[in-house]
Amino acid sequence: SPSLVESAKLQAACQAVDNHVTPGVRRLGVGSGSTIVYAIERLKENRNDLHPDLVCIPTSFQSRMLLIEAGFRVGDLDEFPELDLAIDGADEIDAQLNAIKGGGAAHLREKVVAAAARSFILIADHRKDSKTLGEQWKKGIPIEVIPFAYNTVKAKIEQLADSTDLAKGAYSAPAPRAHLRMATAKAGPVVTDSGNLILDADFGLIRDPLKLLGVLKMLPGVVEVGLFCGMANKAYFGLADGSTTCRM
Ligand code: A5P
Repeated sequence: SPSLVESAKLQAACQAVDNHVTPGVRRLGVGSGSTIVYAIERLKENRNDLHPDLVCIPTSFQSRMLLIEAGFRVGDLDEFPELDLAIDGADEIDAQLNAIKGGGAAHLREKVVAAAARSFILIADHRKDSKTLGEQWKKGIPIEVIPFAYNTVKAKIEQLADSTDLAKGAYSAPAPRAHLRMATAKAGPVVTDSGNLILDADFGLIRDPLKLLGVLKMLPGVVEVGLFCGMANKAYFGLADGSTTCRM
């Protein structure tokens, strides 16, 4: 039921904020999506226990707006290139804490912020907990491309299954397909916060996310890939019964 999923997201967000956003955290990366909304609400509730000079670095227009509305000081990486902690949602998380992200088209800045942080914590509901990426998330790997290159990158991805497949063994799909992500509230494609487009590429099960990431990132015109490999230190999963589990 939708309300059980929402309460699972809430639980994961509260656990992560309570356990990790200690008074010692001064520079905090704040991700995007629907789960992070609960984390921002929790930060607000915990305000008296936070560092008095806390600066939040948002990963999207969405989280920037939410943080400002909640009364937090927002900053950027120009001023604060090193963060104590970053918290973010995910679309799917595997047994090694590799993640698919970018369902909300924010993964470019999310990855930059995560990489700037000493510790990176993921929060998600139980539906996103899996052994192998691609088991649960069926919308494909989000790939941010410059508009100039979207169709040639799409063609290259769809040729990956040929005999020259550099990513051989990394994924299960016999013939990967990529689709330009279209907007729902306007006619035309989704345009990211950085002015780029998104291809969603279906590779089936991702057995070797790092290998696939390397191949995709090498394609000219690709800005960032929504595979986060070896970045997360911990993941909190909210369960349907209102409890949470934690993987590290
Ligand atoms: C944004 O681009 C994504 O990476 C989100 O972090 C991810 O889609 C999780 O969003 P939800 O919390 O809404 O599932």
